[in-house]
Amino acid sequence: MSSTNGSRSLPRACVIGAGSSGIAAVKALHERGIPFDCFEKSDEVGGNWVFGNRNGMSAAYRDLFIDVSRERMEYSDFPMPASYPDFPHHTHIREYFNDYIDHFGLRDLIVFETSVVHAARCEDGSWEVLLDTGETRVYDALLIANGHHWDPRWPEPAFPGADTFAGEQLHAHSYVDNSIFAGKRVVVLGIGNSAVDIAVESSYVAARTYLAARRGAWIIPKYVFGRPVDQIPNDPRVPFWIRQRIIHRIIRAYTGDPERYGLPKPDHKFGEAHPTISGRLLDRIQHGTITPKPNIAALEGSRVRFVDGSEVEADVVVYCTGYKISFPFFDADLVSAPDNHIELFRRVFHPDIPALYFIGLLQPLGAIMPLAEAQSEWVGDHLLGDYELPPEAQMRADIEADQNAMRKRYVASKRHTIQVDFDDYLRDLAAERRAGAQRARAHLLPA
Ligand SMILES: Cc1cc2nc3c(=O)[nH]c(=O)nc-3n(C[C@H](O)[C@H](O)[C@H](O)COP(=O)(O)OP(=O)(O)OC[C@H]3O[C@@H](n4cnc5c(N)ncnc54)[C@H](O)[C@@H]3O)c2cc1C
Ligand SMILES: NC(=O)c1ccc[n+]([C@@H]2O[C@H](COP(=O)([O-])OP(=O)(O)OC[C@H]3O[C@@H](n4cnc5c(N)ncnc54)[C@H](OP(=O)(O)O)[C@@H]3O)[C@@H](O)[C@H]2O)c1
Repeated sequence: MSSTNGSRSLPRACVIGAGSSGIAAVKALHERGIPFDCFEKSDEVGGNWVFGNRNGMSAAYRDLFIDVSRERMEYSDFPMPASYPDFPHHTHIREYFNDYIDHFGLRDLIVFETSVVHAARCEDGSWEVLLDTGETRVYDALLIANGHHWDPRWPEPAFPGADTFAGEQLHAHSYVDNSIFAGKRVVVLGIGNSAVDIAVESSYVAARTYLAARRGAWIIPKYVFGRPVDQIPNDPRVPFWIRQRIIHRIIRAYTGDPERYGLPKPDHKFGEAHPTISGRLLDRIQHGTITPKPNIAALEGSRVRFVDGSEVEADVVVYCTGYKISFPFFDADLVSAPDNHIELFRRVFHPDIPALYFIGLLQPLGAIMPLAEAQSEWVGDHLLGDYELPPEAQMRADIEADQNAMRKRYVASKRHTIQVDFDDYLRDLAAERRAGAQRARAHLLPA
């Protein structure tokens, strides 16, 4: 099963998925000479960024533009073309991932139109992987890159009256474009990036658009001082609370408090919820084309009642209520993420299951791609034997400290279970890689 590289015996790996996380893993393994198979359900790479992806898993809508700037999204050794705008359209992002795999010669290393339907751990620690072709293959290591924004989370529990509502109800995942809203009365629920994008799109064609949110959010503009907002210097050596205060002041100077626009007052400080980024929401509210509302209380016939007792007639309700972290190929008692909860060492290594790695399973204040790239290189080093994990007790203490810090900082919500700060995460990962490399070297030295 394993192969050799010089005097080393290398494990054989399986990568599930060739979205932006999976292709970073493919590159890292390939560069290290680690033998692998990468299975991709679709006929192309890019996952979420393939509008209308035939895998049925993409949440991209026709007018989706990225909400982090391209310089924060690109992989470290493959810049996006300078001709791209600061916040490219999904077609650019799809093209970029295709260019990436062609540039590094990775396309032929991916098995397209092949799904992993089951993955089980054998007694000897190897992985038995069942494909939708009916074939079973055995690997020493399993890298999971199946994405975490494709399994829609509907309101839990459903609102009273949802089963008898006269209008249409859909989740943001199946939203394609605003033609469905033309002339209609639309209620959009949530105040994450899907909700604000879809409410803005609705506001151009609908008869009325209501944005219902159960809590407030700091609405971050795409630009400050003429530059993409995520390019404000964010040095992880500066304590978080100082950076938080500075950025909060800048944002408030630009937009003022959300209550000024009729949005709910945030119940948290800036940086304590996943960022909601929109250069257009506040304008559209001030143009009178979007009406903020509190949470939905019930659906009654063709009416939506809100928790403040107000009611509106509605033809469409769009639930922008987030996503579930799902691993359909694992038995739930082996690996699952109830309420999106999953405890991993630095979001990658499972503390109880060796040779299992997660790539891109994190929510950064920033883009996922450079983090998935760093994670992939880290796992690659580990599979080569160049990185050794800390002792189990240290790993568990690290996980507990991380979970406690996340719980303390973030608003309690199923959307805040895998949060990281982009720059801090990269810095900490680099330090851990160095520490683990030292541990690995120490074990190689004669006693
Ligand atoms: C509307 C929307 C906008 C977003 N905008 C941004 C943004 O601006 N910036 C940002 O950083 N992030 C954004 N995200 C987050 C998004 O998760 C990442 O951009 C990115 O798609 C993550 O890549 P991934 O490879 O981890 O997952 P995906 O893109 O979901 O790719 C997973 C891949 O795995 C494959 N796969 C899954 N299961 C199997 C299986 N069993 N067998 C074989 N193949 C399988 C799928 O076919 C897919 O190709 C957005 C998310 C949404 C929903
Ligand atoms: N343009 C872009 O680049 C873009 C566009 C869309 C999405 N995205 C990304 O895609 C990911 C998913 O975003 P998302 O907006 O779809 O989901 P999300 O960030 O998880 O937001 C879900 C929203 O729904 C609310 N909610 C959940 N359950 C609810 C309920 N039962 N009743 C009332 N409100 C409820 C949440 O409120 P609580 O906070 O109270 O839980 C939150 O406001 C994020 O990473 C986001 O950045 C990016």
